[in-house]
Amino acid sequence: MSAEYDLAVRNATAVTAADVQHCDIGVRGGRIVAMAERLGAASRDIDAAGRLVTPGGVDSHCHLDQPMSDGSVMADDFRSGTVSAACGGTTTIIPFACQAKGQSLQAAVDDYHRRAEGKALIDYGFHMIVSDPTPAVLNDELPRLIRAGYASFKLYMTYDDLKLNDRQIIEVLALARREGAMTMIHAENADCIAWLTERLLAAGMGAPIGHALSRPMAVEREATHRAISFAELLDVPLLIVHVSGREAIEQIRWAQGRGIRIYAETCPQYLFLTEAVLEKDAPLGYGCICSPPPRDEANRQAVWDGLENGTFHVLSSDHAPFRLAGDKGKHVAGEKPSFDRVPNGIPGLETRMALLMSGGVQSGRLDLNTFVALTSTNAAKLYGLYPKKGTIAVGADADLVVWDTGRAFTLTNAMLHHNVDYTPYEGQPLNAWPAITLSRGEVVWDGESPQGAAGRGEFLRAERPVTAQPKQRPGATRRWLEAISGGQPQHG
Ligand code: URP
Ligand code: ZN
Ligand code: ZN
Repeated sequence: MSAEYDLAVRNATAVTAADVQHCDIGVRGGRIVAMAERLGAASRDIDAAGRLVTPGGVDSHCHLDQPMSDGSVMADDFRSGTVSAACGGTTTIIPFACQAKGQSLQAAVDDYHRRAEGKALIDYGFHMIVSDPTPAVLNDELPRLIRAGYASFKLYMTYDDLKLNDRQIIEVLALARREGAMTMIHAENADCIAWLTERLLAAGMGAPIGHALSRPMAVEREATHRAISFAELLDVPLLIVHVSGREAIEQIRWAQGRGIRIYAETCPQYLFLTEAVLEKDAPLGYGCICSPPPRDEANRQAVWDGLENGTFHVLSSDHAPFRLAGDKGKHVAGEKPSFDRVPNGIPGLETRMALLMSGGVQSGRLDLNTFVALTSTNAAKLYGLYPKKGTIAVGADADLVVWDTGRAFTLTNAMLHHNVDYTPYEGQPLNAWPAITLSRGEVVWDGESPQGAAGRGEFLRAERPVTAQPKQRPGATRRWLEAISGGQPQHG
């Protein structure tokens, strides 16, 4: 008798963002086709008795093989990055096709497809980074790309080679409203940073801690409030990325309380690190230069509170891989460069899920459903991949993590599969790690080594997310929006 399923994950404690079920999960053709107390025969069984099974992680903010303007080269491409992600329980990534100023957006997307081609172990979508919103981009390329499955993009308020001015941000948000796209924003005040950087360097404060001093909380708070005001003005959803501390969180909660559609993301670096990692003699000072910077202990606690009280929707890694050794990574500008000449970002694709399972769930701060929502479901919903990704349900892709939660160990970089020569979390005690990661029903991590062929990962076209659809709320459509567009979003 032929087996009914290609695979059955038996006796699972299957956790979604909504519930916990004790069941078998039947997989056929890479998709979940049945969930029941007891399923029939399968070609292959995985016994998950006593194990948590969660949806594979969706890491919706990571940088792989992204061209850099300062001569540095990212250490992870789509091969090493997706292997690393899979070994840490992530089955979908959404990195960035980054438009350089002067480049067409379509050319950036085409280039990024070439970089991914034949390399990915797990499935991937693209966000775009819009750095040059020319009339051709606004009137033609961006609307066309949004409709073609690139339904989200990031805007920067800082970094000279990427930042938009306020007028440009407003233009792009108006387009996002019209097209039903999701906008992410990096909220830091560029002029404050430039002024402070100049003064700090003049005062001889070029060491890594100068990076934190050049970007104090007020710099992030001000830009966060400004971005929120634009979203309110246009009645369009906006997701604030990599939020680092209390004052930005206060702005976000204020906006959410007023019914402004503000979504928020944070990252493990703001939950597990403080600015002490940038101090003199800290071994990974250059390695921990990222923006916004990790802050003090009180801010770190405020970010945990924000996860607990529902302010945040997404926990991403913001993996930005630069090696400490050699002259193409953190030290592209020399052995002891001033902080402003160090490529920003830290690695974290592989450690994101286990850090939150250990530090969030097993410490008693978060329940399992919140863990799933933050690491998988909400990102899939916000970026148009749900319910194919982000849940355990009949019809969803069989992207699953079977957890080992019964073993205490210490994290070291030697355990990891990225191509970066450090982890900011070296020495972190953990008591959870994926025992098995399944991508569309295939084992891509078996607890000891990555499995599966490079190139098996598929590109995911995003639907325009439900969360970005314009709302017809009485009284919510601003009078000025009615005046300039007849009140009706033109997306259809
Ligand atoms: O420092 C960071 N976060 N680097 C990566 C680029 C970005 O702004 O997300
Ligand atoms: Zn950013
Ligand atoms: Zn980033």
